[in-house]
Amino acid sequence: MDKILEIQNITREFPGVRALNGVSFDIRRGEVHALVGENGAGKSTLMKILSGVYRPTTGRILFNGQEVNFTNPKQAQQLGISIIHQEFSLIPYLSAVENIFLGRELKKSGGLLDKKRMKKEASEVLERLNAEIDLDKPVARLSVANQQFIEIAKAIAIDTKILIFDEPTASLTGNEIDKLFELIATLKENGVTMIYISHHLDEIFKIADRMTCLRDGEWVATKDITECTKQDIVKMMVGREIINSFPQKPSWENKEADILLEVKKLKNSIVNDVSFHLKKGEILGIAGLVGAGRTETIRALIGADGVEEKEVYLKGKKVEIKSPAEALDHGIGLIPESRKTQGLVLDMCVKNNITLSILKKIAGNYGFINKKKEQSLVEESIENLLIKTPHMRQKVKNLSGGNQQKVVLAKWLSTECEILIFDEPTRGIDVGAKEEIYKLIRNLADKGISIIMISSELPEVLGMSDRIVVMYKGKVISEIDGTTATSEEVMYYATGGVGNESNQYSKN
Ligand SMILES: Nc1ncnc2c1ncn2[C@@H]1O[C@H](COP(=O)(O)OP(=O)(O)OP(=O)(O)O)[C@@H](O)[C@H]1O
Ligand SMILES: [Mg+2]
Repeated sequence: MDKILEIQNITREFPGVRALNGVSFDIRRGEVHALVGENGAGKSTLMKILSGVYRPTTGRILFNGQEVNFTNPKQAQQLGISIIHQEFSLIPYLSAVENIFLGRELKKSGGLLDKKRMKKEASEVLERLNAEIDLDKPVARLSVANQQFIEIAKAIAIDTKILIFDEPTASLTGNEIDKLFELIATLKENGVTMIYISHHLDEIFKIADRMTCLRDGEWVATKDITECTKQDIVKMMVGREIINSFPQKPSWENKEADILLEVKKLKNSIVNDVSFHLKKGEILGIAGLVGAGRTETIRALIGADGVEEKEVYLKGKKVEIKSPAEALDHGIGLIPESRKTQGLVLDMCVKNNITLSILKKIAGNYGFINKKKEQSLVEESIENLLIKTPHMRQKVKNLSGGNQQKVVLAKWLSTECEILIFDEPTRGIDVGAKEEIYKLIRNLADKGISIIMISSELPEVLGMSDRIVVMYKGKVISEIDGTTATSEEVMYYATGGVGNESNQYSKN
């Protein structure tokens, strides 16, 4: 077999952490090679080594049979190895074109920037991606999905031989993912070799030829995808079988609880006349396709975005909520979709991030922080959520992507909100830890906290929700009992609830 890349005995150490330990395997020319493993297994670190971001502590990389020693990403790129990082690396205030050509701007013969040509080439690349994006807007004002496409455009605008995707679909949904897969197929036809990291095993079975699994920085296996089942891969990742990943739902009688929150006639430019209620101690799932208005509904509810009309009742009493801070005062907390930008202080340590929002709770007499209480609370969070960190003083930016997400969750799980709203709670979280998060969310509900959960993962909505509200085009189209709901039923409504049997499952 023709090997394009040979990874030989790679070890990488960070202070207090051995992220990779003697990892060896090959990547074949033209294949899509999936890389799997739990949060903190070392996937991103290995890919950063291949793409010149980090250097290995020991070990060798051969590219086309030649040893390479990259000291920076540019060298890797010049040889044709590009990476699309888990954390986006776009410059927010620059436009899409400026980002795509960053560091390799096209110039006219006189030395001036050739803006016209750059824009033309950029739009050609985006056309290949089938993406319609405003190239002149600062990328910060684009949707997360479109920012992702700009990242990909940036990589394929250069002649790329090996393209590395580090959890590319973590911020995409539905047809955007389909579009990405089409793109991957096209790139493969053109001979591009790809390495693909994902926690979604379904995706891996769809697109990968082979897979490699890492665990705790060590190589576990490399196999043809046709040789393994989903269960095999999960077992390789976590070292045990995972059978039922959703906690038991309480019986419906217990759920005949008081209505805690009522939202009526929510209306703004995206949602229209949205009404729903939330009972004490229940988990309410909000389902719908991308663009159905789920996140917008929640943002409008907590006052993050403006509204034309809105009535909110808490325990039957009308309240005004004009900002997220006011929502918090009323005991409503939102754990947002893009946690990186909205939930963490990357330069602060794990401990301070977790306790940031609960300083009051751990304050002792005279407002001094009760160190012991703080310590035990943080220890408990780290243990419950399986946060992989050498110690609680580690800066959050040094944690793996999935572990950063767990820190945000930990922070919110320890607040004293009566209502917690989770927007895509398990995005980027590995299969084993997902199970833990489901348990924690259910525990909160059992304790009487009311939960609203938005998720694009249908099994998650079905597995967790006591009741499901389905949205379609900015409206609530149906409410379903979560104990009996099926994916067919939810999809039927999520796609508009019209038509006959045959097109019930179609996506648009
Ligand atoms: N710059 C760094 N400084 C210190 N430790 C680091 C650094 N980068 C990574 N690590 C540690 O190395 C280990 C592997 O991290 P890595 O990001 O490679 O995991 P991953 O497999 O990509 O996980 P995820 O699925 O969560 O993204 C983790 O324990 C992480 O905390
Ligand atoms: Mg990672």
